[in-house]
Amino acid sequence: MMKKKILDALLDSGDTYLSGEQISQLFGVSRTAIWKHIKQLRSEGYEIESVTNKGYRLISMPTNYNGISIERALKQNQTMTRFIKEVLYFDSVDSTNQVAKQCGQTETFENTLIVADEQTAGKGRLGRRWESEKGKGIWMSLLLRPNISPENASYFTLIAATAMSRAIEEVVGLQTEIKWPNDIILDGKKVCGILTEMSAELNLIHYLVVGIGVNVSQTDFTGELTNKAVALKTFGSEEKLQRLNIIQIFVEYFEMYYNHFVEAGSLQNVIEYNRKHSATLNKKVVLIKREEKREVYAKDLDAFGRLIIINENNEEEVISSGEVSVRGLNGYL
Ligand code: BTN
Repeated sequence: MMKKKILDALLDSGDTYLSGEQISQLFGVSRTAIWKHIKQLRSEGYEIESVTNKGYRLISMPTNYNGISIERALKQNQTMTRFIKEVLYFDSVDSTNQVAKQCGQTETFENTLIVADEQTAGKGRLGRRWESEKGKGIWMSLLLRPNISPENASYFTLIAATAMSRAIEEVVGLQTEIKWPNDIILDGKKVCGILTEMSAELNLIHYLVVGIGVNVSQTDFTGELTNKAVALKTFGSEEKLQRLNIIQIFVEYFEMYYNHFVEAGSLQNVIEYNRKHSATLNKKVVLIKREEKREVYAKDLDAFGRLIIINENNEEEVISSGEVSVRGLNGYL
């Protein structure tokens, strides 16, 4: 796509002006065509200076992201060359997990990152709805085909939570906690949720979808969410709330943990991070499994990220994620 090539050339030349003549020679397009693409880019929020006898220079990127800027960010840190092979971006879509599952059905898919600015039917766990207002959060899914046994798929939820918690800390400067195994907590409320879905046979994963939703500036919540959900914006300073940077750093950490796990079978670094940043451990919690509720003590995580509890009989017991919901004694945390 010519517009993308021109943008890439502008990004590569940084502070140096790129003349119409140079661009024209690089890509074999007319000066009028170049001008048309520049105008288009400007209308998308790219600030591009044009100076007679010097040429064009990119001053700033749009605060809103799009497919081009996301690809660019992932290329910059090499995750696009190594890990993510395709980026799909939508201004609006029903659910990125839904799109991911459709792509997963094509046998030939490669690791894909799907991002939407808005979801009209965002899905939460247990059939719940996930509010996904336009421009106000990170609504994205990773489509992957890990060569591991399906029973280990829940590890990727833990990996995603860890990678996102670290990305938020690095980019926004906020310390979060992880509510085992799939929520990220800020000031006692949920700022990020993860929905992992897959299609598999007994011992083969066809595809795995890790859907991640982060409330960045979405602060209006309805119903029970009012007291349960929070946005990064409530605690983070405006200039640090860069969705693009958060995605970039998240993918970098996710790739690191993913490879470590898929190649070496180890979750050690994920577990260590979770122990230090856990909203669940060293507390009394309620385990909920359909109608059954048990009050137990959350002691530790084992090497597989399972929860070690002290049960009603004062004995240790190991709980896998997916088996239960965990609640605090007085509500969500
Ligand atoms: C939860 O905590 O209930 C999980 C929420 C997961 C939300 C994300 S947003 C991107 C992806 N697409 C969806 O429809 N859901 C996930």
